[in-house]
Amino acid sequence: MLNSQPPLLTGPAPGPRSAALAARLAGVESRNVTFISRDFPVFWRTALGSNVWDADGNRYVDLTAAFGVAAAGHRHPVIQEAIRSQSQELLHTMGDVHPSEARVELLERLAALGPPGSRVVLGTSGSEAVEIALKTATLYTGRPGWLTFSGAYHGVTYGALSVTDRSLFRQPFRAQLNPNVVRAPYPAEGAGDASAALHQVERLLSAPEGGIGAVIVEPALGRGGDIFPAAGFLPGLARLCRAHGALLIADEIFTGFGRTGSRLACDAEGVVPDLLCVGKAMSGGMPISACIGSAEAMSAWPESAGEAMHTSTFMGHPISCAAALASIGLIEELRLAERAREEGARWLDELREMASGRSVVREVRGRGMMIGIQLEDPAGRVPSHRITAKALVEGLKRGWILLGSGVEGDVLSLSPPLAIGRDLLDLAVEGVDEVLAACEATLLSSC
Ligand SMILES: Cc1ncc(COP(=O)(O)O)c(C=O)c1O
Repeated sequence: MLNSQPPLLTGPAPGPRSAALAARLAGVESRNVTFISRDFPVFWRTALGSNVWDADGNRYVDLTAAFGVAAAGHRHPVIQEAIRSQSQELLHTMGDVHPSEARVELLERLAALGPPGSRVVLGTSGSEAVEIALKTATLYTGRPGWLTFSGAYHGVTYGALSVTDRSLFRQPFRAQLNPNVVRAPYPAEGAGDASAALHQVERLLSAPEGGIGAVIVEPALGRGGDIFPAAGFLPGLARLCRAHGALLIADEIFTGFGRTGSRLACDAEGVVPDLLCVGKAMSGGMPISACIGSAEAMSAWPESAGEAMHTSTFMGHPISCAAALASIGLIEELRLAERAREEGARWLDELREMASGRSVVREVRGRGMMIGIQLEDPAGRVPSHRITAKALVEGLKRGWILLGSGVEGDVLSLSPPLAIGRDLLDLAVEGVDEVLAACEATLLSSC
């Protein structure tokens, strides 16, 4: 596997260059964007494989694949070459007017992920793919309502925000969100069976006022805290959607392309959604996403008479298309889904064994290379999100890039490149153990 080198810190993290860049950034970027403190963030200078180097020359191992994007590893030479050779021909086309060959090839590849005859609309972000899916369902059913789930994260543009469940993101904009949104509980594996949640979905879908045109679901909650659904939930949802004439939208922006150990997380459950949203790992690093829909659902879009109803300047960007073709090809060729399944299962066992000795860990759960470590202060004095924040800083100090998740911010998420080497995964167990030990020591000292 690519460039599997252990962490190597040559100085403090963040070091003086990161600190200087943080000061400059703070002077020009909206203060809501980047969280800056004495200990955070580090500025990335370069990355390769599972490694990232910061502006001060410190080498890290990225246990996040940068939001799950770098499935084949950072800056994979095959993706890099696809970008280079495309850039020598064409940097930009005209979105919905004059397309490129790379776009046709990518659409053919993506359409094959859905049932025969599927059609695709490209976007530039995950949120946009969600917008396209919601618009498709509205066109197809003529109904204004959307059903979504507790803990959901679908993005922060207005349509996507309407179906996202995070009050911090929603509160100031509440009055402008789709008022026809209903929410059902997401049935977490291990917390009962799926039937209560499905019952509630059925009740909402058959409410006399009706009007639910789309049910949007993540096959596993990503930003919601690496939560996996109870067995039978997704197939049950597909059945209910069919029975009530609503379209099922699977948001696989995080789980798609091998992350949970199968090509799509829906595949493992035998579920074929009406609409499928993908992004992130699809390109390995260029901004592109897609909504893939069954021929029937997509027939709701009228034929273009010269004006596309959904488009944008950079839609189907040729370089992003070339990168996506290379990334999807690599994920297949390197059998990264199978790898995620096998190595992920082994890693999960090791992490569970390690965490059994750590009092700040309530649970370790995962599928494939999507793993969540649920944190808590056993004595209940310190809010769990503060433990997560401490873990991210302690991770950086030891050369591990980590990310928090969960509606309460109480989960340490591990989603490394699917191509990461076994040696680094083993080392990461020790690294995370040290991070958790440092969190425990801080809790003790704060008593
Ligand atoms: C499941 C899911 N849906 C949608 C999004 C939004 O994608 P983007 O940040 O590319 O707009 C994300 C991003 O984390 C996601 O995890």
